Amino acid sequence: MKFFIDTANLDQIRDAQELGVLDGVTTNPSLMAKEGITGKNNILKHYVDICNIVDGDVSAEVIATDLEGMISEGESLSELHEQIVVKVPMIRDGVKALKYFADKGIRTNCTLVFSPGQALLAAKAGATYVSPFIGRLDDISTDGLNLISEIRHIYDNYGYETEILAASIRHTMHIIDCAKVGADVMTGPLSAIEGLLKHPLTDIGLAKFLADYKKGN
Ligand code: G3P
Repeated sequence: MKFFIDTANLDQIRDAQELGVLDGVTTNPSLMAKEGITGKNNILKHYVDICNIVDGDVSAEVIATDLEGMISEGESLSELHEQIVVKVPMIRDGVKALKYFADKGIRTNCTLVFSPGQALLAAKAGATYVSPFIGRLDDISTDGLNLISEIRHIYDNYGYETEILAASIRHTMHIIDCAKVGADVMTGPLSAIEGLLKHPLTDIGLAKFLADYKKGN
């Protein structure tokens, strides 16, 4: 399973990269705004800064919602850095844009996916990644994890190569659950990744090993 971090915070991206388990970064306009990154040029520079920290894929989202605008923005974003993956919303023109980019060899991440049908369309259009938002489904009393399972089932039926990127991950158990049902990638906050480290028996066991070592030395 690939681990992406879902943030535009450079310190957190560095921390995750230094941990040695980071495969990429996802961002969106809300995450950029949260870090105070505003204005087109600052946002583009920030994408390059992120690419220079991580080794893997970095999703950069188009703002346009019409086909022409998405194509123009997506082509510029993809030229920024070889690690950039163009993030396209699941709307009618977005599906057309996914197909256009696939035909041109530009990698894409189809975002704001909330149903199996949307995921099927994204795969047929040739998206590199599809991003089902599981936390936001959980927020409205709908089983987000079940969506990952349904998409996995559909993609496996037909051998679609689009990678399932479980997004809107909120906590550590989301990561474990997504791994169990076969998500290819998860993107979440650093806290959710670091939660994987923790077990009280590890801490207790290590303290005992060190105490016993000291007794004999
Ligand atoms: O990857 C999608 C993500 O940024 C949305 O997360 O927590 O705002 O639902 P959240």
